[in-house]
Amino acid sequence: MTSTDDPYRDPKLYDLEYRDQHDDIDHYLDVARAHAGDAPLLELGIGNGRIALPLARAGVAVDGVDGSRSMLHDLQERLAGEPADVRARVSARYGLFTTFEVERRYRLVTLPFNALHHCPDHRAVLALFDRVRAALTPDGVFALDCYLPDPALYRRDPNQTYEHRTFVDPRFGGALYSWERSWYDTLAQTHHVIYAYQRPGRVAEELHLRLRMFYPAELFGLFDLGGFEPVQIAGEFDGRPLDGASMKVVALLRARR
Ligand SMILES: C[S@@+](CC[C@H](N)C(=O)[O-])C[C@H]1O[C@@H](n2cnc3c(N)ncnc32)[C@H](O)[C@@H]1O
Repeated sequence: MTSTDDPYRDPKLYDLEYRDQHDDIDHYLDVARAHAGDAPLLELGIGNGRIALPLARAGVAVDGVDGSRSMLHDLQERLAGEPADVRARVSARYGLFTTFEVERRYRLVTLPFNALHHCPDHRAVLALFDRVRAALTPDGVFALDCYLPDPALYRRDPNQTYEHRTFVDPRFGGALYSWERSWYDTLAQTHHVIYAYQRPGRVAEELHLRLRMFYPAELFGLFDLGGFEPVQIAGEFDGRPLDGASMKVVALLRARR
């Protein structure tokens, strides 16, 4: 990814956007305690450590891979402000989901916070699953969460703006106006979301997220084709069962023998 088309190029805007997102952190901490033992887990799409840092503070070691140099740089800056023992528990490097290599095997690999939607097609998903299988110990588990398609959201008018908010700009101080517009490409099953941020009197800065959506049967088919079988499937981080009204899939998988 180049910096200009990287929707994660400004980690401070990312932090602002997701400052109230916490339930997944508790979930991945529980999964780490149950499955990683004393060894590090591997987080794919570690970003700037929104999940990795709280886990490291709780004593969990996290190795990470990410395709955004801006997020990785921000992670290093955040780590510099942590105590030495927390710093020592986090290690991250540049890599892409479809091609990353690791030097050890992990009892737990995670792909949190909807990162699967960054795989634009089935080939990318299967390449990612191939890499995950190569990174796992024989009895290791793969934990991920993703959204399910939300047809009500896709009925939004692409020419209208939504979710108008005013923040305090984390970079420059002062007001920061924010809004979204979005459209759904039905054939490519891709939800395009433009996040706009505008300082008064300035041109709005736009971040374009392209989110490939997976229907449930397609998702479970991809798990199967990718050589994974479910250990536990829920419809939310609180563990409620997946059903026809679920907005998410929260999955724990293992490689089929
Ligand atoms: C939704 S963010 C999640 C970041 C972090 N795990 C969190 O929960 O805050 C997705 C992350 O995946 C990374 N990413 C997106 N596509 C990628 C790819 N093809 N290969 C590697 N990383 C990618 C992004 O740079 C971003 O940091």
